[in-house]
Amino acid sequence: MRYEVAGRNLVFATDAGVFSKDRIDRGTRELLKALTVRIRPGQRVLDLGCGYGPIGIVLGALEPDAHVTMVDINQRACDLARQNLAANGIANAEVVCGDFAEAVGERTFDVIVTNPPIRAGRSVLRSMIDWAHAHLVPGGELFLVVRTRQGAASLRKYMDAVFGNTDEPEKGGGFRVIRSVRR
Ligand SMILES: C[S@@+](CC[C@H](N)C(=O)[O-])C[C@H]1O[C@@H](n2cnc3c(N)ncnc32)[C@H](O)[C@@H]1O
Repeated sequence: MRYEVAGRNLVFATDAGVFSKDRIDRGTRELLKALTVRIRPGQRVLDLGCGYGPIGIVLGALEPDAHVTMVDINQRACDLARQNLAANGIANAEVVCGDFAEAVGERTFDVIVTNPPIRAGRSVLRSMIDWAHAHLVPGGELFLVVRTRQGAASLRKYMDAVFGNTDEPEKGGGFRVIRSVRR
């Protein structure tokens, strides 16, 4: 599939068994709307649960002087994300494969972005938020998109409890983008 952003025509190979294989998910697109003007040169960005790579690849393309790490537990998703990085000539991003908590290690980030695996359940989502808080630098931001009717209010409440703040930079199509800043 193709995706045009800021005058760039990006191409994505997808496959059965990966999230949103026929089109870039609406929630992902809302997240990208919130992020297009926010990534700055030199920032370290993590795409948490990257799938075939739409978030990391778009952000890497928009800001070539940022460094993007993409992580996914699904081997097919990781293979596609690597293939899609190469197909789009993105040199400032890498894919690490495995469970986020083990695969990424002790690195820290300026921005963590996720369209999280809602079906994995509340404890996985909460552990992602806790982990993100621990792996952001002070001033670093977590952006998470969630369908309004799939628990947006309770996830926002949890982010508020962990980070002490939230706001909603974007909403549309039944999705909300929730942001917290590490103080
Ligand atoms: C909702 S999908 C989003 C995929 C992609 N970012 C997008 O926007 O199309 C969530 C992704 O999280 C991945 N995932 C689930 N549990 C994970 C874990 N423990 N560590 C890393 N990735 C995980 C899934 O394999 C899936 O690709």
